Formats: sequence, C-alpha cells, structure tokens
Amino acid sequence: MKLWLNQLTREVPADLRTPAEIARFELAGALPGKKVTLDEQPALGDSWTIAPADGGFRISGGNTGLLYAAYRLITGLLCGEDFSVRVSSAPKYSLRMVDCWDNPDGSIERGYSGRSLFFDGGRLSYDPSRIRELGRLLASVGLNVLCINNVNVRFPAQLLLEDSLPELASLADLFRPFGIRLMVSVDFSQPMRRDLATSDPLDPAVREWWKRTCARVWAAVPDLAGFLVKADSEGQPGPYAYGRTHADGANMLAEAMAPFGGKVVWRCFVYNCKQDWRDTKTDRPMAAWEHYAPLDGAFAGNVILQVKHGPFDFQVREPLSPLLLGMKKTALAMELQLAQEYTGHQIDLYTMIPMWKELYEELPPDNVTALAAVSNLGNDAVCTGHPLAAVNLFAYGMLAWDPGIGARETVTRWARLTWHFAPEQERSLVSLLLSSRAVYEKYTATLGLCWMVNPHDHYGPNPSGYEYDLWGTYHRANRDAVGIDRTAAGTGYLLQYPEELREKYGNPGTCPDLYLLFFHRLPYTFVMQDGRTLIQRIYDDHFEGAEEAERMSETLSALPFPEPEASIIRERMERQLRNAREWRDVVNTFFHRLCGIPDARGRRIYD
Ligand code: GCU
Repeated sequence: MKLWLNQLTREVPADLRTPAEIARFELAGALPGKKVTLDEQPALGDSWTIAPADGGFRISGGNTGLLYAAYRLITGLLCGEDFSVRVSSAPKYSLRMVDCWDNPDGSIERGYSGRSLFFDGGRLSYDPSRIRELGRLLASVGLNVLCINNVNVRFPAQLLLEDSLPELASLADLFRPFGIRLMVSVDFSQPMRRDLATSDPLDPAVREWWKRTCARVWAAVPDLAGFLVKADSEGQPGPYAYGRTHADGANMLAEAMAPFGGKVVWRCFVYNCKQDWRDTKTDRPMAAWEHYAPLDGAFAGNVILQVKHGPFDFQVREPLSPLLLGMKKTALAMELQLAQEYTGHQIDLYTMIPMWKELYEELPPDNVTALAAVSNLGNDAVCTGHPLAAVNLFAYGMLAWDPGIGARETVTRWARLTWHFAPEQERSLVSLLLSSRAVYEKYTATLGLCWMVNPHDHYGPNPSGYEYDLWGTYHRANRDAVGIDRTAAGTGYLLQYPEELREKYGNPGTCPDLYLLFFHRLPYTFVMQDGRTLIQRIYDDHFEGAEEAERMSETLSALPFPEPEASIIRERMERQLRNAREWRDVVNTFFHRLCGIPDARGRRIYD
C-alpha cells in the first residue's frame, strides 16, 4: 500500500504520537546523513518554510506544517527538485477531505478497490499497520480530513455515535499523528432510533438530543472534524419531512457542535429521484439551485454546503454547478469523485486532473472554502484497484493544497515517485494518462451526452438504460434530434448561471462542442463549428475513442512496469479495450438505427 511512497521502506512505528515526531522519523529514514532542523511554530498550522542551512535544511512550520514540509522535501528531492533557495507554502483550503462510502458490513458503495479498510461484520475492524500506511499516504499529499462511513447511513452505522464510540476514538488516535481528523456521516433521523418520536430540527427535545450527543461524541474524539449529512436525498431522511428548510436542519446540528469546533458538511445532492420520464418540464440539473440558492446567507458559520462539481452526478462531462458560482454568502465545498463510478470503475484509465483544471477555469478559487472527494481506496493489494488510478488520489491532494498546480507537472511527479522510469518512458506514461479522460469521453459521453450507461452499476453502454426511468437523466433521442434544450427557450437551466456563461453556452453556434448536447437539442444534420454534421461527429468520436484506446494499450505494453502491477495493468487494459469496442458499436448502432444516416467514411456500423 505504499504507492507513490514506495521508496520509504521503513514502516512508521506505532509509538510515534505527533506529526512532528513522524516528520523527524521520515526525514531520518529518507535523508540519512543530512542535517534537518525542525523549528515548530504552532501558529503556522499547516504552513511551512524549507530553507537551506548548514549543508542541510531548516524547516519551520506548525505541527502539521512540519509533517507536510518533511514529505514535500523528501518527495521533492526524490523527484530531483532543487531546494537551494528558501521555499514557503500554505494550503489554499483548510479542510481537504476524503469521503469514504464504506458500510459497516465491509462493503463499499461505488467501491472498485476491494472491501473497506475500516469496517467488517457490522463494526470497526482494521489492521492498525494498514491504517498507519494510509495515514502516511494521505499526509504525504496534505489531505487532513477522512469521513469514514457512507453518506447513505444504514444501520448499524448509527452506532458510531453510540456503542461504537470508543472504537471510533481508537481509530482517531491512529490517524491523529498524521494530522488527519475523522468525520462521520450521520443519519438525520437518529434521535428517533431509540429516544424520540420525531427528528424535527425545530423541536426542543431534538435539539437537546443532538447537543447531548455532540457532547458525548466530542468527549470521546475531541478533534472530530464534524458530521457529513446527506438529507432528503435519494431516500435519506431530512428536515423536509417536518416542513423545515435545510438551513433549519443544518443549523440545528451546527449549534449542537459549535462548542467543540465541529463543522456540519451538508450535501446539496437533492433532486426528484422519482421523476416520470414523460414529464419534460422538470429538469434534474436545476434542482440543487432551486433548493439551496434561496437559502444563501441563512446557514450558521460552521456549516459548509458540499456541492457536487456538476449539476447532475459526477458524469464525464458536466458544466460547473451553478451553486458554486452563485452562493456568495455561504461557505461551500466542491465535491469530486475519485471512485470511478461513471468513469470506468478503475478498469478503464481515467486520470482526473485535466477535468479538475477545466472546472477551475470557471471556478474562482475563493468561491469555495473546502474540497472533498469520494475515496477510491479499498483493501485490495493495490489499494486503488488499478495501480494507475492512484494518480487521482495523489493529484487530488495536490489540488486541495494548491488548485493552481499544473496537470502535467503533477502527473509527472506521481509517475516519477511511483515508477522510476527512464525519462522517455516517463513522458510516454504521463502523456497517456493526461489523454485518458478525453479518450474515455469520446467513446462514452461525447458532446455532453451522458447517462448512456448500464443502470445501477454504471459500467458499459446502454443508450436507453436510463431513458424511461425515474432518475431525471434523459437524452430524449428520436429519429430527428437528440439532447435537451436547457436555454431560456427550453427548461431555463442556463438562467441559473452568470451572464458570461449564459452567453458562452447559450448559442449552439458558439457553445463548446463538448457541452453541446448538455445545453441544446439539435438535429442530427446540425453542422458543427468544424463543418461536420452532429451525427458524423458522434460516429467519429466513437470510432476514434476505441482506436485511441488501442493505441494506449500499445503504449502501456511497452512500459517496464514491475510485477504484480504489470499483470494487473495488462488485464485491466484488455477489459478496457473490450469496453471501448462495445461502447463504439452499441452507441453508433443506436443512433444509426434511429436516424438512418450512414457514416460518411463507410466504416462498419451494425444494423
Ligand atoms: C450517486 C451514486 C450513489 C450515491 C449518490 C450520492 O447517485 O450512484 O451510490 O449514494 O451518488 O452521492 O449520494
């Protein structure tokens, strides 16, 4: 489980208690014979300075700052970086969260890397040395909050706040030396489990219940980061049952944990998941704005609204969620998904940082106060399932520290630390990874056409799989046209954006190609900016995507990965190739059968 830290060969001993002690241990192990002085200045928190001194280095920083600086120095030197001048750094966001969707039975919702690292048999159950390895990995890229259980809180996860509290405290003890604070997902209706007849957030008995609960929980885990809440979403309980707003619900929890410094991280993934496909007025991407924009400014100071990066649900291509642009008076976290639910299940290659950089082209970094990402970790031998999927966890840590980082620079750093290839081979791996999202997009979701996946598991093609379902995820393809008009003339979703973006996306003649069918409904004969018809572009992208996957496979097979990673990578690439061919043929056939227009280049489309 060492991943990019595979050059740190010594285990972190169990008796180290503070980040500064771990920093000292790591520096002594990785830089033997180098004199490194640590100057702890608690007020500096996570930030640090590294300066050359006496043939070695002097590091100053807060307690966690020293640890982050130690990893920065060690990994920087391994990457051949120059530290001959003083360098300082501070994270952009103070909460850099990883959300695990682990269930007490050991399964992981949308997990593609094996079973849970924390749970089994209905309770917390783990190998302490693996937890230390995980702590080390997360700290090495600056991640500092770990929510350990699924946002869909099903019994017995509630016990984390009850009988399992001492076990939660022991797990928190293991992570604390790595500067990592735990968070738990909570069930909004938990007061009703044993004690009360309601969970109405304005009921005084409910408010008291949460205050007592928080006092007990923080007495056991004094540095708990807070609660993560999925309320009134996909069947989870919430304040709407009592006619209360989400501000009422979040503020009640906020008040209960305020004395202990906790945060309520309240998710904004609320929409009608029982839509009738015949209803063309309801447009799911509009939902989050409709629920939350009217509440801007109504949340307590220790509430953070956690907003998925796009208005749907972690699709390959979505515009930035309008909430991330419009809620100026509310603390926001942007939620990303490292688990490759819609992006290849850690079978297909999908390096995410190019997508995140695109999001930041439209997101002023000060609009959000925190970042969160759904974990891609599990207890597989390679704890990210695919050895090359580890790049996403690494890059996420780097991004949460500094959203200004470069995509190529970050992936190169990860590749150099992990694989130690010759320069030419390293460049070829990095280029392949940087192109992997575009390739996957071509064969699965071109022009913003998302949701053509197999229902429920979300791997593989099924163009009508979600078309007549309840989830509000329709492309409405017929024999003449495809897509949804989300402009003012259509559902009006586009009106949720600032003027500049309304203009960018509003006109099909100027809308960037890759967002075209997200915002517009167009005939197959529509002529794109490059002169091709829409249907020709759909065919071309599917043929090209599958061909590019073949080329990725050739490039990968020429790289000297060690065993056992080489075999895992080869086997997953074979599955990716099968998947890409299937997508190409199913989607091309689907549209060809509908519109009857042949491929201008005469390639094989099945009929
Ligand atoms: C998706 C995913 C669910 C998850 C949900 C969420 O819909 O398929 O498994 O629970 O997102 O983010 O809450």
